[in-house]
Amino acid sequence: MRAAFVLAADCSRGSLCMVCSSGQNTESSHCSTRPKRGRCHPTAPQGATWAIAPRCHIHFTLTLNTSIVFNPIGVHDMARSLIDDDGVSNPSRNLHLQQVVERSLAINPARRRLMLGGLGAAALPFLSMLSGCLGSGDDSTAESAVPEQMLGFTAVAASSGDAVVVPAGYVATAFLPWGEPINAQAPAWKPDASNTAADQEQQVGDNHDGIHYFGFNAAGNGPGDRSDEGLLVFNHEYINPEYFYAPDTDAQDWRLPFTLEKARKGQAGHGVTVAHIRRKADGSWEHVKNSPYNRRIHGNTPIAIQGPAAGHPLMKTAADPTGTEVLGTLNNCGNGWTPWGTYLTCEENFNGYFGWNGEHTQTVLEKRYGITQDGFGYLWHTVDSRFDVNANPNEPHRFGWIVEIDPFSPTSKPVKRTALGRFKHENAALSIAPNGKVVVYMGCDERNEYIYKFVSSGTFDAANPYSAANRRLLEEGTLYVARFDAGATPADKMGTGVWIPLLPSTVGVDGRALRNNPHFAASSDAEVRALILIKARQAADAVGATMMDRPEWVAVNPKNPGNVYVTLTNNSRRGGTTSNSPDGTTTAGSARPPVDEANPRANNVWGHIIRWTEAGNDPTATTFNWDIFVLAGQPSVVGERAPSSNINANNLFNSPDGLAFDSFGRLWIQTDGSFSNSGDYAGMGNNQMLAADPTTKEIRRFLVGPSGCEVTGVTWTPDRKTMFVNIQHPGELGSHPNRPKNPDGSTFSDNQIARNPTAFSQWPNAGQRPRSATVVVRRLDGGVIGG
Ligand code: FEO
Ligand code: CA
Ligand code: CA
Repeated sequence: MRAAFVLAADCSRGSLCMVCSSGQNTESSHCSTRPKRGRCHPTAPQGATWAIAPRCHIHFTLTLNTSIVFNPIGVHDMARSLIDDDGVSNPSRNLHLQQVVERSLAINPARRRLMLGGLGAAALPFLSMLSGCLGSGDDSTAESAVPEQMLGFTAVAASSGDAVVVPAGYVATAFLPWGEPINAQAPAWKPDASNTAADQEQQVGDNHDGIHYFGFNAAGNGPGDRSDEGLLVFNHEYINPEYFYAPDTDAQDWRLPFTLEKARKGQAGHGVTVAHIRRKADGSWEHVKNSPYNRRIHGNTPIAIQGPAAGHPLMKTAADPTGTEVLGTLNNCGNGWTPWGTYLTCEENFNGYFGWNGEHTQTVLEKRYGITQDGFGYLWHTVDSRFDVNANPNEPHRFGWIVEIDPFSPTSKPVKRTALGRFKHENAALSIAPNGKVVVYMGCDERNEYIYKFVSSGTFDAANPYSAANRRLLEEGTLYVARFDAGATPADKMGTGVWIPLLPSTVGVDGRALRNNPHFAASSDAEVRALILIKARQAADAVGATMMDRPEWVAVNPKNPGNVYVTLTNNSRRGGTTSNSPDGTTTAGSARPPVDEANPRANNVWGHIIRWTEAGNDPTATTFNWDIFVLAGQPSVVGERAPSSNINANNLFNSPDGLAFDSFGRLWIQTDGSFSNSGDYAGMGNNQMLAADPTTKEIRRFLVGPSGCEVTGVTWTPDRKTMFVNIQHPGELGSHPNRPKNPDGSTFSDNQIARNPTAFSQWPNAGQRPRSATVVVRRLDGGVIGG
């Protein structure tokens, strides 16, 4: 299918009202005449979509209530297009625009005033209304006539298709997929996955995750608040080898023989992308390919090690005898961003890249962080001695940190901030306390791990947000870990909590100060602190922190800097009798703790979201009150596994993971769970994104991702009119109902899917292997997302 026409974003009297979404239109129409449905140029790229632009200035405002579905351009597309490229009305069950306009008016009569602009009801139906762009006056007053709502969109249904589904009145377009050249000089992505490691270092990485939009300033040379041009910075958490590597000569394992070149390509697929982007006249976004800001940071980029653990003997290697510089950042999961214009990328499952060749006895520290003989199967340690702990026992200590990146300084060296602790970081959510201290909330994502916060030593200078002093605030501070207590009333799913500082003087549950605990024993408290940060999990064990049901993203309520939410995604090991030992010897993920009030369900397959308010709404407080915002699940389930009352048949989901507030105070929830759509997960469909009202606790589904994906990472332009959402690993087979199977009913193996990479998902481009990508979400009437 060719691309089709959109309404121009910058339509003004006499200019083009409709243009091809790719910008390659061959027909056009002016606002003063009835718009024609046109045919886009035959060379328009696949993936350009039919949409209505944000708004047609001067002449009219559209507030439609229609359903736009973006999916690969293929056999399903004709059925999904509202109007096909031959101008034929939609043959699918989707509503025709005329119908949806009428329906929109029925739902919200206020829209009639917006659309008619005083022309009266006779101006309907839709096409007559379009011809009514003879109407006079700027629409800006009309746009502001409808106050922003907390949940101002029509929920989408759960689904298992290979498409991104967004609500009525929205459009979603894939952007900057894996392999996209990072600049004008970079090599093109090869659909057969035969790009080299050197190519990959110049291309967008794989498995998009945390993301942040940094607007430019007015001069276009630094951070500011522009919503039309900025730097989109996003993480690449890992790679999917079955799609990432072209099959080699071994019939049983497409990756073999594994080589250093393949390890290097995998390392290049990790890290961070900085992409200069700009909004086009039609409201869509383009990558500014000749910009010097475009940058890849990957698994071999030199990165400084800073803070209390820098230079410690455990951080030194043969290649870095000072312990102050490491090659690369890995498993870049969630993210954070600072008010001084930097990006934080968070290293999560770093342990999976390490292994050993030959004999090796696991140390207690390796067990506690999950370093095993073969890791997660990346094979790097077999060809790259940096990842063989027999050859480089300290290299794992140089991962598991939060890394600060200045995207506006393309030659700047990223910095690992050791004051924030070493664990399996999900994201980093900043809050500025009333006294100016910077507080960073963080979760450690593994079953029965902990929630932490960092409080800076210095204070933020709000009058000079980009000052040199502000940019050093993550260098030094105090790391705390959370204990969730039951509070005064048992079984009410509310309670109190304490932040325990991880300092040399803190007394653990065994009655010893951490400086006297053998894990952290050293000749000076400075070194004790370094060891506490390198071994943060063991320090948290020692002080009796609360084991949580896999802490994922943390989000701070923009309306209250001391009100904080965290997703607890699921925990198949909740409900036993064994806990992480205070002596720090527990193998990662092996405990089976009993239920407690904050983690109240055994075998918590659906997950929940907990929130707390710091004492006095002060993020630096050491006590808090907490309650459970939502327990996901099935409403038909009663008793102790029952979900909370804000779950109903229309908003079923499991495994909340990504979590973020927009600047309006709307809470967005993203999922990374089972997409089997059966059993415990019936009615939940593919992974998804929902929006929630933090006051009423209402939750409404906003987006459904394509087959086999996870939805993770979200950011907005400052005007909240563009939302960027990441779709990670489309095409992971798992237990998806549409996964390809063999004649005997067994699911395709990775080796099979590697040789048939289009057999399951072809998102976002039909006929090609699936690729992680960012999705640009806009509202057809140019309004704010979600409102
Ligand atoms: Fe990278 Fe916990 O998700
Ligand atoms: Ca209680
Ligand atoms: Ca995640």
